[in-house]
Amino acid sequence: MRKAAVVTAGTAGIGLETALGLADAGFAVTVIGRDVERGANAIERINATAPAHPARFLSADLASLEQVRALAHEIAADQAASGEPLAVLVNNVGAMFAERQTRGGVEASFVVNHLSPYLLTELLLPTLTAGAPSRIVNVTSGAVAVAKRVFDAAEPPGGYYGFHWYGRAKLANLAYTLDLAARLDGTGVSVFAADPGGAATDMTNGTMTDPKIVSPALRLLWPLVRRTFERSTSGPASAAARPSIVAATDGALTGRTGLLIGAQAQPVSPHRAAADPRVVEAVRRLSERHAPLAPA
Ligand SMILES: NC(=O)c1ccc[n+]([C@@H]2O[C@H](COP(=O)([O-])OP(=O)(O)OC[C@H]3O[C@@H](n4cnc5c(N)ncnc54)[C@H](OP(=O)(O)O)[C@@H]3O)[C@@H](O)[C@H]2O)c1
Repeated sequence: MRKAAVVTAGTAGIGLETALGLADAGFAVTVIGRDVERGANAIERINATAPAHPARFLSADLASLEQVRALAHEIAADQAASGEPLAVLVNNVGAMFAERQTRGGVEASFVVNHLSPYLLTELLLPTLTAGAPSRIVNVTSGAVAVAKRVFDAAEPPGGYYGFHWYGRAKLANLAYTLDLAARLDGTGVSVFAADPGGAATDMTNGTMTDPKIVSPALRLLWPLVRRTFERSTSGPASAAARPSIVAATDGALTGRTGLLIGAQAQPVSPHRAAADPRVVEAVRRLSERHAPLAPA
């Protein structure tokens, strides 16, 4: 039987390369994005390289929790109707903002990098459990290392520095990933994080040149910081997709869970803060409050 995979933000960048890798591995891939034309181009590319299982595109703005709920219901209904097991969910969507923005009243990078993948995952758990053995892959970032580890509220107090806020949202998502792995242990649903390292994509090309994204202390060292950013995000998206593809498909990971697949596509230790019970508990509370499974 065909197995299905869903890749969010899968019409360009690292997500499209991940979708190509999964299609090549034999999955019928659904890619999610906002732009319909981009979606059509992505499907054409995937089907040209792996025509055995036609890919499909679903349109959703993953910065809208309402659209995430609708998307989850559509995917779940489709899988139930087709009888095709959903074997892989890659939560690849991510975003960094130079200026503070909100979505539904919540700071946008927390919504896109954590609440949205959290909500999609939780709503698809019955489908993923029915499709077991299955895998959830949450795409993380080295930016967790510069995160402000304060999770009393969706947004920490103080000035807005996009790179650090992005890292904090990715840290929340990494803590959720490890927590979920423990929760689902024994169900046949494995949960992994994947760190792509870096790549030149829309996301990095659009934001990493603006000194406003880092804290005032790092801004003093901006030429050095900028060179570091440029170096670390100059590679191809195809290489950055390897950790996600390995996490989703590698037979050596069968029966394992709760691992972070690093930029070299090997398991590495996650940042300690992600396993701190206070962080895990605070993230759980924030997730339940700001992304309820049913709309308020
Ligand atoms: N690039 C890096 O150096 C790097 C480093 C570490 C971690 N990461 C992580 O890797 C993942 C992929 O990064 P990337 O650099 O490939 O990102 P990207 O360049 O922003 O990816 C573009 C893709 O994201 C989709 N997308 C963006 N916002 C969306 C939204 N609100 N709703 C639905 N689709 C959306 C785009 O579709 P539309 O155009 O149709 O919206 C397109 O398919 C992210 O989680 C990122 O945080 C990246």
